[in-house]
Amino acid sequence: MKVKLTETILRDAHQSLLATRMRTRDMIPVVEKLDQIGYFSLEMWGGATFDTCIRYLNEDPWERLRELKKHMHNTPAQMLLRGQNLVGYRHYSDDVVDKFVTKAHENGIDIFRIFDAVNDVRNMDTAIKVANREGAHVQGTVCYTISPVHTVEKFVELAKDLEQLECDSLCIKDMAGLLSPHEAHVIIKAIKKEVSLPIALHCHCTSGMAPMSYMAACEAGVDILDTALSPLSGGTSQPPTETMVASLAATPYDTGLDLRLLSEIASHFKKLKEEYRGILDPISEQIDTNVLLYQIPGGMLSNLVSQLKEQNALDKYDDVLAEMPRVRAELGYPPLVTPTSQIVGTQAVMNVLMGERYKVIPKEVKDYVRGLYGRSPAPISDEIIMKIIGDEKPITCRPADLLEPEYESLKKEAEDLGLVKKEEDVLTYILYPAIAPKFLKGETVEEILMPAATAQVAVCAPSAAIPTEFKVEVDGDVFNVKLEPKGGFVSVADAPANINVTPEFVEGAVTASMQGMVLSIEVEIGDTVAEGDTICVLEAMKMENGVHATHGGVVKKIFIADGDPVKIGDVLMAIQ
Ligand code: CO
Repeated sequence: MKVKLTETILRDAHQSLLATRMRTRDMIPVVEKLDQIGYFSLEMWGGATFDTCIRYLNEDPWERLRELKKHMHNTPAQMLLRGQNLVGYRHYSDDVVDKFVTKAHENGIDIFRIFDAVNDVRNMDTAIKVANREGAHVQGTVCYTISPVHTVEKFVELAKDLEQLECDSLCIKDMAGLLSPHEAHVIIKAIKKEVSLPIALHCHCTSGMAPMSYMAACEAGVDILDTALSPLSGGTSQPPTETMVASLAATPYDTGLDLRLLSEIASHFKKLKEEYRGILDPISEQIDTNVLLYQIPGGMLSNLVSQLKEQNALDKYDDVLAEMPRVRAELGYPPLVTPTSQIVGTQAVMNVLMGERYKVIPKEVKDYVRGLYGRSPAPISDEIIMKIIGDEKPITCRPADLLEPEYESLKKEAEDLGLVKKEEDVLTYILYPAIAPKFLKGETVEEILMPAATAQVAVCAPSAAIPTEFKVEVDGDVFNVKLEPKGGFVSVADAPANINVTPEFVEGAVTASMQGMVLSIEVEIGDTVAEGDTICVLEAMKMENGVHATHGGVVKKIFIADGDPVKIGDVLMAIQ
């Protein structure tokens, strides 16, 4: 039986190694060649691509989909969809899910790989039904993870549920690279015995086991394997396409794909990788056997590194790794995949950075414990529930059952803001209300791609090695001066500088304990607040984090506005 391949170079491979930053213009030149290979499918949309397109690349994700599709005539276009979360970070109402899936199909998605972070099939139900109704191929997904409650029987049960929902194929998604060859064999055999659907296996190489697990999966009867062309394979990405093609040649699992043509396409990505070298984190390219202990998935490691860098706390990396499994166990062993990976990861980061566990709890963590992301695989203890949401009672129904239809009202909201040029813009706005307005108004500036070689000498982006903060003395007072380049390369001389007042000079200063963007301000000048009151909400690490007053008093001055970026130590307010 021939084994088919799904190529991930246009989605997961660069999401895992290049922080999802590959531009459409860098894909277009080889799409027609990719289309000639004879892949089962080309994964090219969904996951984190939607977010990075509008947040960093000033690209319309819908436009990317249509552009790529223009060059694809033989190969099905595949996307990764997070069930009721779509490509965002919360549960959307059924009418929004319906609209998104319909529009994605209309714009060119042929195969929807649909998963839910906690394997709660109720969260995949609507997306699966709509994709089926629209005539798309539906690949239902089983997220693989290791825990006392994740048994082979449980995985088989979920596979049977997905077959019942009329999925066309199944995917076993091993986002952390934890699936051993033996386990791969056992699980695939067990599912094959009970379910007649084709099975795809999606592994990351993080722990180094994936190529062996792929071989074992072939022997157990797997139908499809996910691979990435060699320049962006390995590490936290997928096993290399060319290697799998050569390994399986002349066996019963022979893919029959043309190694020469693959290598021709690979050379394009090899060159490209050099251009993107500046954002390639060496950690994500390595084999890291620590994941076998900590169970951190592909994209999450590189995200974690950049989060800690952002928070100036890269030295806490090992502490955070050790905290992660503790938080995960306390939250009922969710598989670590978006958004649960962010939920567990961010809470672990907070627990370490704040020096006290569960001192700062992001809204998403609270919502998770409230049951708003679905049923946790294992129950959460009363003690942890108490710590996180107090006396509130978690829900037991399907989370989306609590959501009123919201498409029409949010559409009107977007129209009133003057953001809608096409129907898809409404969805972009609904998915990313904090960053979409800027993007849809055309005010987002494409992030500068820093070549690795010049990163050391160029004076520009805040990520450069050159310091962008200085202390300046004016008449005996010391001020922090930050250089904030606004697009393009700038020199020190013409860089616009913000002068931020350091905390020592503000009486009753409340400062930011993390870097982020101001989402909302919860108090006004003159308000009396008590210690612990939420004074504003920061979006940091893609989560909403309430900032609490460190002391009580009257709000005398507010130094921030909605949408402002803040850094650790910035004065937010004066409360006296
Ligand atoms: Co993946």
